[in-house]
Amino acid sequence: MKQSSLEMNVFGKEIIHLSSVDSTNNFAATLLSNQLCQNGTAILADAQSFGRGQRGNTWQSENGKNLLLSFIFKPDNLSVQRQHELTWATSLSILKTLGKFNIHAEVKWPNDVLVYGKKIAGILIENQITGDSISSSVIGIGLNVNQTDFSSIQATSISNELNNQYSKELVFQELCDSMNVLFDQIVKNESDILKSAYENTLFQKGKIGQYEDQLGTFDGKIIGVDENGFLLVKVEKEIRTYGIKEIRYCSK
Ligand code: BTN
Repeated sequence: MKQSSLEMNVFGKEIIHLSSVDSTNNFAATLLSNQLCQNGTAILADAQSFGRGQRGNTWQSENGKNLLLSFIFKPDNLSVQRQHELTWATSLSILKTLGKFNIHAEVKWPNDVLVYGKKIAGILIENQITGDSISSSVIGIGLNVNQTDFSSIQATSISNELNNQYSKELVFQELCDSMNVLFDQIVKNESDILKSAYENTLFQKGKIGQYEDQLGTFDGKIIGVDENGFLLVKVEKEIRTYGIKEIRYCSK
């Protein structure tokens, strides 16, 4: 069988840089609906007036300090059942990028990127579905680079971790390189490789922690994810499976 591969280095080939926008994800969605972008186009902004986060939250970022961007990904034939792989590949791309700066990060399931328990990056992926396939995906990433003051929020940045200021362009270039490697694994159907790489990054994996589900709080141990991207938590001898919004971490 012919194995397809990601067209060479699509991420970052076309870059749209805005000084300000409501949300790079909104801008990307508009470009997509007007067919004005390619596979891999990156929309970067210095500031967002309405940066969006997960669960309807807003994403705050000091003007000009951090990476605020959305990538457009147009998969060839990616079933909607594999949408969690976009989360896996994006999280791993951010971790690989941070690794280039010698920062060790973890993923708080499903897609919060943490350094010693503090959030350094967030991901908001919005898919357009046609039939059973993902026709296009907007991959929004907020990665804290040079912001040093987060008031009371449990957050950090590359600058805070390394006590230095960094070029956002350099971080962006590293991120594009990592996206090109990790998304190639999606295109090549290397789901198992992605899954085990992602599992290895999971925050609190293998440690007893306190969690809460609809029945109350309990002590359990994260052991990985299943092939659908659900979180697997071992509670005594039982293995429980959780989807998004079905479990809360109590300790962080
Ligand atoms: C989260 O809540 O953790 C996800 C945050 C995602 C923020 C990024 S910033 C660039 C892109 N545009 C948005 O409006 N949101 C994402």
